[in-house]
Amino acid sequence: MKILLIGGGGREHALADALSRENTRVELIAAPGNPGIADLARIIPVNASDDVALMAVAEQEAVNLVVIGPEAPLAAGLVDQMRLRGIPVFGPTMGAATIETSKADTKAMMMAAGIPTAHAETHRNAKDARDAVKARFGAPVVIKASGLAAGKGVIVCHTIDEAYAAIDRILDDKAFGDAGNECLVESFMTGEELSLFAITDGTDILPMIGAQDHKRLLDGDEGPNTGGMGAYTPVSLSTPALIDDVTERIFLPTLHALRKRGTPFTGLLYAGLMLTPEGPKVVEFNCRFGDPETQAILPMLTGSLLEPMLAVARGARLKHQSALTWRAGASVTTVVASEGYPDAPRTGAGIELPSLSDDIRVYHAGTTRDADGVLRTSGGRVFGVTAVADTFAEAQRRSRDAAARIGFDGAIHRRDIGWREAERRAAEMATVHAAAIHDAAVRAEIDAGTDARAS
Ligand SMILES: Nc1ncnc2c1ncn2[C@@H]1O[C@H](COP(=O)(O)OP(=O)(O)O)[C@@H](O)[C@H]1O
Ligand SMILES: [Mg+2]
Repeated sequence: MKILLIGGGGREHALADALSRENTRVELIAAPGNPGIADLARIIPVNASDDVALMAVAEQEAVNLVVIGPEAPLAAGLVDQMRLRGIPVFGPTMGAATIETSKADTKAMMMAAGIPTAHAETHRNAKDARDAVKARFGAPVVIKASGLAAGKGVIVCHTIDEAYAAIDRILDDKAFGDAGNECLVESFMTGEELSLFAITDGTDILPMIGAQDHKRLLDGDEGPNTGGMGAYTPVSLSTPALIDDVTERIFLPTLHALRKRGTPFTGLLYAGLMLTPEGPKVVEFNCRFGDPETQAILPMLTGSLLEPMLAVARGARLKHQSALTWRAGASVTTVVASEGYPDAPRTGAGIELPSLSDDIRVYHAGTTRDADGVLRTSGGRVFGVTAVADTFAEAQRRSRDAAARIGFDGAIHRRDIGWREAERRAAEMATVHAAAIHDAAVRAEIDAGTDARAS
């Protein structure tokens, strides 16, 4: 079984880890990969944007499966081109990938299909967008560039003036280029966010376990937004009942709407949810595995990832596949980044990797090996350090401690990944404890009553 994995970040390292761990007969090829993936795969130095070279590799190597990690090649239609040549590929077509690449089209689709999401209007003209804010939305309000904007095109605005400034930046200043040809004015939702991934054949899904990520740079969710400073799974809010509800009211109707539109979605569908007081609502969809959540989720998988991926790539139905299975316990990923991230990360620092225990995985996200074979930083997010343990607290502690031991000049990481879950579990324990005290008091009262009658 030969697999070509496209991409070279932490997400792809986690995918390579999962695919090679489950089956020793898997021969993995990665393009362009990274120094971490190089331990698991044969590296081919072809960039993820070089569609012609990637197809040549897939054909020459006669691969049984292509797995595409990042959104850019999906948005550019790599799946469409590979399918035309009969190459079995896991991922959505360009048309289906618009679920991520056009927030405007996706919002229209959701509103038409009655899928729970925040109400929004789409505008191309700044004056119309400003009028919408003033007349119909007020503040707080969320202003979004419709297209791909590297995680920077969404601005949560606390005042009407902030919203006006965001609209001008997107539509008039073209701060995000063509991604800002359309701008959404969207109602602000409150609640906790949850990332839920599902493998889909276009009709049915195999949902994964829920995860939460931490977008802000600093402890306590302070500081600027980043691509993600860490993630953890499972999330106790993500109960089986919640996953069933999201399946019935969000995933399945979304897939139905996409089939009806003539762009069936196959691959990995990522629902970014807000758990509002009225139930889960869609914040956004992504058309691929999320990073860093994938680095926390996949190490928890006990069953096969390859089987459902292969089925989807071959155009088979998922209803014959059994549900994904997960180990007990928890998984926490702490991102180690370069000083200056996210604005101007310093790169080129030499890296010393400590020897860590087997339950720790160090996924490479921004590393390179120089001509002398020295491992160096090459990006903002350098590693994702995942610890899997029997308890949440243990996974949290081990991930944090291992991240602290990774040595390069200017390494930074958060020390509180998973704090929301830790707080929830503490509150739950306090409730259990209070209930136990209450029960004991009631028992004592009954006993006292019994004693009083006996005497
Ligand atoms: N309607 C909304 N209400 C409240 N917060 C929102 C809303 N839409 C987006 N956000 C916040 O902004 C973040 C980024 O928005 P999202 O649509 O996921 O864009 P992207 O990931 O493409 O940058 C979300 O994770 C969420 O924290
Ligand atoms: Mg998002």
